[in-house]
Amino acid sequence: MNETTVNHPVFARIFDRFTGSLEKEIGAHREELLAGLSGRVVELGAGNGMNFGHYPATVAEVVALEPEPYLRERAEQAAQRARVPVTVRDATADTLPFADGEFDVAIASLVLCSVPDPARALAELRRVLKPGGELRFLEHVRSARPRKARIQRRLDSSGIWPRLGGGCHCARDTVAAIGAAGFDVERVRDLDVGPSWAHTNPHVIGAARAR
Ligand SMILES: C[S@@+](CC[C@H](N)C(=O)[O-])C[C@H]1O[C@@H](n2cnc3c(N)ncnc32)[C@H](O)[C@@H]1O
Repeated sequence: MNETTVNHPVFARIFDRFTGSLEKEIGAHREELLAGLSGRVVELGAGNGMNFGHYPATVAEVVALEPEPYLRERAEQAAQRARVPVTVRDATADTLPFADGEFDVAIASLVLCSVPDPARALAELRRVLKPGGELRFLEHVRSARPRKARIQRRLDSSGIWPRLGGGCHCARDTVAAIGAAGFDVERVRDLDVGPSWAHTNPHVIGAARAR
């Protein structure tokens, strides 16, 4: 699917309203996600910029992509408060506006659930990374428990959850998709954000290297 715009005005406002309380729990995971990074970073679907304050000072530049207009405006405000240089651009995951091998690091947090075609998004991230570049990810994924995975699949295929969640899907096997897109997954661990029974759990946090 080729997508040039994303417009989820209601989701965007609700997400922005609730990220303050979500951040109390997820902030420490964002810190872990971005720890030790350096060089040029591309961040996909940056939302309202909740990662920006967690980038270590060793990062030279972050180019953050956000296609949703309301969230992009909020991200631009967050960029001004960041301690590293952050530029916010309007772009969707399916066609990144960069040449091959421009970045040292790519960040995907809570976004591979929302892009229409995760394989294509990951191929684009792989393309714009230098060989050996790093993908850091923090994503919610399909449960390993068959009963819960069935419920997650039903929520996705019925369209109920994608409609409520700004295009979000809860049954994606994102770690497998990362491996299939030309990355070696170097570390990954499960974690829960919010109640473990929530359909948006489990989450995974990890790092993968472009082959
Ligand atoms: C749940 S929010 C997560 C925001 C942010 N990454 C974070 O960690 O808080 C999902 C984000 O994905 C973005 N998104 C949705 N479709 C997209 C697409 N096709 N390309 C890039 N970003 C997209 C949304 O606009 C939204 O900002």
